[in-house]
Order: sequence, then structure tokens, then C-alpha cells
Amino acid sequence: MTESKQADIFYPSEEVINQANVPEYEALYQHSVENREEFWAEQADTLGWYKKWDSVLDESNAPFYKWFDGGEINIVHNAIDRHLENANRNKMAIIWEGENGQVRNFSYNGLNREVCQFANVLKSMGVEKGDIVTIYMPQIPELVFAMLACAKIGAIHSVVYGGFSTEALASRIDDAQSRVLITADGGWRRGKQIDLKSIANDAMMRSPSIEVCICVKNNELDVEMEPARDFWLHDLKALPIASSKCDTEQTDAEDPLFILYTSGTTGKPKGMVHTHGGYSVYTSTTHRMAFDIKPQDRWWCAADPGWITGHSYIVYGPLINGATIMLYEGAPNYPYPNRWWQIIENYGINILYTSPTAIRGLMRFGDRWPQKHDLSSLRLLGSVGEPINPEAWRWYHHVIGQDKCPIIDTWWQTETGGFMICPLPVTPLKPGSATKPFFGNVMTIVDDDGNEVPANEEGKLIVNNPWPGMARTVFKDPERYKELYWSQDDNGNWRYLAGDSAKKDEDGYIWVIGRMDEVLKVSGYRLGTAEIESALVSHPQVSEAAAVGLPHELKGNAIHTYVILKQGVAPSKELSMELRAHVGNEMGKIATPEAVEFVDALPKTRSGKIMRRVLKARALGQDEGDLSTLEE
Ligand code: WTA
Repeated sequence: MTESKQADIFYPSEEVINQANVPEYEALYQHSVENREEFWAEQADTLGWYKKWDSVLDESNAPFYKWFDGGEINIVHNAIDRHLENANRNKMAIIWEGENGQVRNFSYNGLNREVCQFANVLKSMGVEKGDIVTIYMPQIPELVFAMLACAKIGAIHSVVYGGFSTEALASRIDDAQSRVLITADGGWRRGKQIDLKSIANDAMMRSPSIEVCICVKNNELDVEMEPARDFWLHDLKALPIASSKCDTEQTDAEDPLFILYTSGTTGKPKGMVHTHGGYSVYTSTTHRMAFDIKPQDRWWCAADPGWITGHSYIVYGPLINGATIMLYEGAPNYPYPNRWWQIIENYGINILYTSPTAIRGLMRFGDRWPQKHDLSSLRLLGSVGEPINPEAWRWYHHVIGQDKCPIIDTWWQTETGGFMICPLPVTPLKPGSATKPFFGNVMTIVDDDGNEVPANEEGKLIVNNPWPGMARTVFKDPERYKELYWSQDDNGNWRYLAGDSAKKDEDGYIWVIGRMDEVLKVSGYRLGTAEIESALVSHPQVSEAAAVGLPHELKGNAIHTYVILKQGVAPSKELSMELRAHVGNEMGKIATPEAVEFVDALPKTRSGKIMRRVLKARALGQDEGDLSTLEE
């Protein structure tokens, strides 16, 4: 079966339609927005609850919505415990391949054993319900075990992406005031050992709240362990306390499950707070419906668990749905550009979910690498993190999906918890559009006054309703949450401002254009200009700095920076290199600027705000727009 192509629309094949979990979109969509609570209650009913909710949606304190309030649940009860009662018990939960070729497999039963042991270790270290545990790990199974172990005992995890560096880690530990840090000696990337423990050690020096550091032995690095603070996980697991039985804590539906820091418009990253109840319902429903999950599926979300994509669609959604999850530690093109295609063939992966940056990066090596492999197991492909350019879309569809796999382009955010705009496998596709809102969501494009713009006109993307997967607040700063994301229309209805600009075409397809604020999407990673600028300014020779994102063929955006040096410091090529490395060391390699340009002044408003828009326009040789607020 092949998909037929008409103009720029790709229609699903009969085969795809015949086996779809949700055979039709429009009618169910209408039903879901007209009967939102009923729709979500029905989805929630597919999960295991210790106690059912009193109300599906509590709007009494909007925009601080509550979902399934009064219900008792634990996400781990759904992600693991429930599967132990049926045939899933011996089903593969996680297949992990290390970059060096090492393979480790865990059935749901085996996963449970690991998570229970880890949970008991955490308890022995005094971790209790409501405590925030920071996790800083490479992409190894223990990262997933650590997250689930926290959730199991009602502790809140705060995962910091393993590619971040000292300052990023320290500031996140500090904000959460974590007492316990879970890390590893190191990870592997391109055949090299990445020394995570030294970064963790430096971060712990900067953020003294950590009393206990649990370290996983993952490679042969000789790391510094501080007595009485640092413990090897394997030593702790050998103790009698670490039995492989541990009860799952009953949590309230609205109890926090995790905090995940994400970059915002200004200042430090914000800790977005997600809950046990609504998040379980939302991630599992979106995953089941949009990716048409079948019991026999092997699912590969090739993100890092350290970002929201990994939280929702490597760990929680797929495990709740009882899928088999592929996890790969290393670089996509190591040692050769066929590494991913080899993995798909070796393990018979049915669904691959990745970013446009990864697709563009692999496309660059040509068709012969994927063509060397049998990719016929693939049924669906997914995309996330940034708009996918039609060229990459077509390559993905034709060369990887062999013209038979619909591309599920999913638009969502750390804040939304799960997919907000995405097709179902049965949805006709237009390359570059994430198509239509997911069930229950009404999305509009509005102008600065909040009025809906006509079809095909650009405006601000908003969501006109609450949904179960939404972040409940910014950690320790509810006012900021309300102010940043929510406003009321003339009728007093609350609406969520996504921060992206978009267009809706005459068929109702949404085309996301990109961020409207100071957030950069670099290779699909979300970074804030503020963090990059503060990393630059922390260098002793820098007085002021500004960062902007400029279009980049592979990365989507690349970071360009403008630096004013301290008096008496001379600009040089060496200094520019040093500053780039400095940002990499402080923030992490992904934040390394593409370029550092030395300038004498920065365009600012009269109130002293850097006008990044002007810098960007100048760099691109475009019209600088309205300059009336520019200071002399
Ligand atoms: C962008 C990642 C276009 C968008 C899940 C959003 C996308 C930001 C898409 C959130 C997509 C994500 N098409 N743009 N399919 N998916 N984005 O929090 O700008 O890391 O606001 O969440 O990524 O990034 P975050």
C-alpha cells in the first residue's frame, strides 16, 4: 500500500486507516470540545486509580486549574504496577543500546525490580514524599529507574539534561533546594567518555543544599567521591535495605510529579510543575491516539529523557501504554551515519519519533546509508521540537518511511506536557504543518488585541481551554505563571499564550512559524538568550552581551552573540574562541555560540532593554522595523 499524493496533501493508505485506534478525527474532535470533561473522564477511566476523582475539572481558581481533584493515583502504578498483573509482566519494557554496542534489556517485571530497589535506596537516604531530587545523568537505563523511583515514593524529580554543564546544573539544584543528587561517573559520546561527576562536583560546590549524591557506575572514569556525601549506587543496592519490593505511594491526582526547568523570556529558567493525575491521562492518551500504539509495538523516541519529550514520550506515556521502549545512548552517526537505521533494523522498531534537526543531519549523508537497511518494520514516523521544513519532511517520508508511513508532526511544549497540535495517522498531511488541535483543545491565532486573525495571516498562537497535561504552575512563583501564560478575553475566558507565532489555513491546518520571544530553538533544544548572555557576562573580560538566533540550515537556529568588552581589553580571534568555549563550559556544549562579534554598543530601548530584534534584522540585512523606542 502506498499513500496517494494529491498536490501537497498526503492521504493515508487503506492499511493505515483500517488499523487506526481512532478511525476518524472530525466527529470525535467536535464531541471532545463540546463535552470536554466527559471526554477526559473517559480517557482517565482507562487508567488505574486508587480512588476516583470528585471532579474532572475544577475551574474555581482559574487559571490555576485542577484536574481529577480528589482522585488518588500514582503514575508508577500505571506505568509499571498494573502491567505486572497481566501478560505484560514478561514483556520487554526497555531495550537499551549503549554507544559502545552494549545491550541491556528489562522486562516490565525487571523494570519493577530495578525501580523498587532504587526507591528503597532513596528511602534509606531519607527521601520522603514531596522532596525534590535532582537527577543529572547520561542516557542510561538508570536515568529512567531514578525518575520512576522518585515518582513511586511520591518524591518530585527535577531532571537536568546531561548535556548541560556546571552553571546550568547548579542554578537548577539551587532553585529546587534539592538535598539529594543522582548522577553517574560519566557517559559516552562519539567514543569519548563524558565526565559528568566532575561537573556535578563543581555544581555541588556552588549549590550547597546537596547532602547526598548517589552515583551510578557507567564507565571507567576515575572520579572524585567525597566521603559521607557521595555513594555508589551499586554499593547501596547491595545493602539489605535495597530489597526489590517497595509499595507504591498513593498520591493525590494534583500532587507534583516533577519539575522541569525551561527557558523563558527573561531571567533564569522556570521550573514547570507537572502532576501525577492529569499528566498520566494526557501523555498516555495523546501517545495512544496520535501514534496508534499497538500491544506489539516497539517505540523509539530518540530524544533525551532530560527534556520534556523524553519525560512524556520515552518514559511516562509509552510505559503507561505498555509499549516496548528503545533507548540509545549515543550520537546518531557514530561510528557511521547508519547507526540509527541499523538500530531500526536490528530491533524491528515500528515507530520512530525524532526532531527535524536529527532528520536534516542524517539526510546530509545521503540515501545510501538508510537504503543499506531493512526499514520495513516502520509504520509511523514522528517529528517534534521545531517546524519541519518540507524538504526534510519529504526525505523522511520517502527514504525512511518508504512512502507508507504517515508523519506525525507534533507541536507542544514543556508547559503543555503533551501534544497540542498533531495529526492522527488517518489525517491527510501537509508537509510542514502539525495539522489540527488534539482532542479537547480549541486553538486560535490572534492579533495583539486578542482578536482572531483571518485565514493565512500570522498571529499569536493561543489555547482557549485548560487540558489535563498542562503545567500547574511555575515552581515557587505562581504569579509568574499567571502573568507569563494567561490572559482573559472580553468575556472573561482564560486563554493560554504559547509564545509561538502561527497561521491557520483555510482548511484549519495550523502552521507554526516559531518563537516570538527570547527563547531559541537550537537543534530543537530550548535555550534562553538570558542564560547565554549571563554565561558570557560571567567571563572576567566581558562587560555586556546579547544573544540572538539566526537561521541555520541544520540546527534550525544558531546562536549569534554580540559582546562589549571591559575597558582596556582588546578584541581578538583568540578571545572570541575563548568566549565561545566559556559559554560551552558554563552552560553545556549545545549552548556554544556560533559566533562572537565584538561591538562598542548594543541597540537598547530607553529603559535599557536590549533590542535583539534590531540585532537580528541587521545581521540578516533586513528592515530594522520600528525604531521609535531605540535610545540615541
Ligand atoms: C517549538 C518541545 C514547530 C515551539 C516539545 C514551542 C515546534 C517550543 C514543534 C517548545 C513543532 C515544538 N513544530 N515548532 N512540531 N514542537 N516546537 O518546551 O516553538 O522544548 O514553543 O518542548 O518548541 O519547546 P520545548
